[in-house]
Amino acid sequence: MLATATNFLPYHRALIDEEEVSAVLEVLRSGWLTTGPRVREFETEFARYVGARHAVAFSSCTAALHLALASIDLQEGDEVILPTMTFASTGEVVLYFKARPVLVDCKEGAFHLDPGQFAKAITNRTRAIIPVHYAGHPCEMEEILAIARQHGVKVIEDAAHALPSRYKKTFVGTLGDITCFSFYATKTLTTGEGGMSTTENADLAERMRMLSLHGINKDAWKRYTAEGTWRYDILETGYKYNLTDLQAAIGLAQLAKCDAMQQRRAAIAERYTEALRPLDAYDVPSVPEDAQHAWHLYVLQVNPASLRIDRNRVIEELKERSIGTSVHFIPLHLHTLYQQLGYRSGQFPNAEERFERAISLPIYPGLTEQDTDRVIEALHDISRQYRR
Ligand SMILES: Cc1ncc(COP(=O)(O)O)c(C=O)c1O
Repeated sequence: MLATATNFLPYHRALIDEEEVSAVLEVLRSGWLTTGPRVREFETEFARYVGARHAVAFSSCTAALHLALASIDLQEGDEVILPTMTFASTGEVVLYFKARPVLVDCKEGAFHLDPGQFAKAITNRTRAIIPVHYAGHPCEMEEILAIARQHGVKVIEDAAHALPSRYKKTFVGTLGDITCFSFYATKTLTTGEGGMSTTENADLAERMRMLSLHGINKDAWKRYTAEGTWRYDILETGYKYNLTDLQAAIGLAQLAKCDAMQQRRAAIAERYTEALRPLDAYDVPSVPEDAQHAWHLYVLQVNPASLRIDRNRVIEELKERSIGTSVHFIPLHLHTLYQQLGYRSGQFPNAEERFERAISLPIYPGLTEQDTDRVIEALHDISRQYRR
């Protein structure tokens, strides 16, 4: 069947209900549009939800990662270890400081960075590691934290995919020194664009908050309120990285249904896995035994030993059946920028093997059982048609 606009099943669609719409209208009617009481409420509720002491809202996860590194005083020439299997943001924030992103491979048979390779990559210039909780499946944090503590390396978690994820019953958001979440349009909780960092450290939180609004001393946003003052002092070079009350209102409404949305995603993942596991054509994602997966992504892997067509062709076949998909990620070391930094193809074989075979299937709370079955039937059909 050819793709038509009417029956196209999108890769993602955000779940926006009346609660989000009326929350935004309320903010519009209040007359206070930018950072204000709704942002503070969102930070408080978010911190409570993940069990963290402090939460600081940002305009994106990229901004949160940037200021997490600023708050630990990353300097030019320092090194930060991160997985090659990640999005542009995780590496670019290191480059903002003229520091070096030191890429490491995936663990064999996984999408996560290999703690063993992390240990090997540490030098006397290493200041931080940014583990990425790929797809919402938490990294091996016990191992990572132990290695980091032993070498005095800070742990800044990229949890763009990991709300709500739990590692051994503990929420992602309280494990490392700072954890950064994304509320981009496709994420498990969205504010359109937005981000949040959580930390147990009051000084780091205060520094990130101050830098997020021009480096102005305490409560810059209050200068137009009844309790505020026009006087302010710029303490250091800051950024315009604040979240708005309009966005926070959406975030609060989304947070209230975060558990329900995760349960729906988990149910879809289970349905996919049950239906696709019996096929040799694909490998289904692993499910952590002692963790909660946020299921931001459901990444299926095409099995070249059983299928005559490659991943790209499977994506085309799905598209012809009106099913949208995506790929997460083209490893950083395969991009021009990173090759200019000295990285080369073939350097991280596990990540390349994973990338070559990966397809992200639609997974979001608004996906119906019929939609899920359509994806499953299409994949069965493709596997029959192109079996070796
Ligand atoms: C692993 C990872 N880190 C960071 C980000 C950046 O998030 P944001 O778009 O909120 O800046 C993304 C976004 O897709 C991501 O996938």
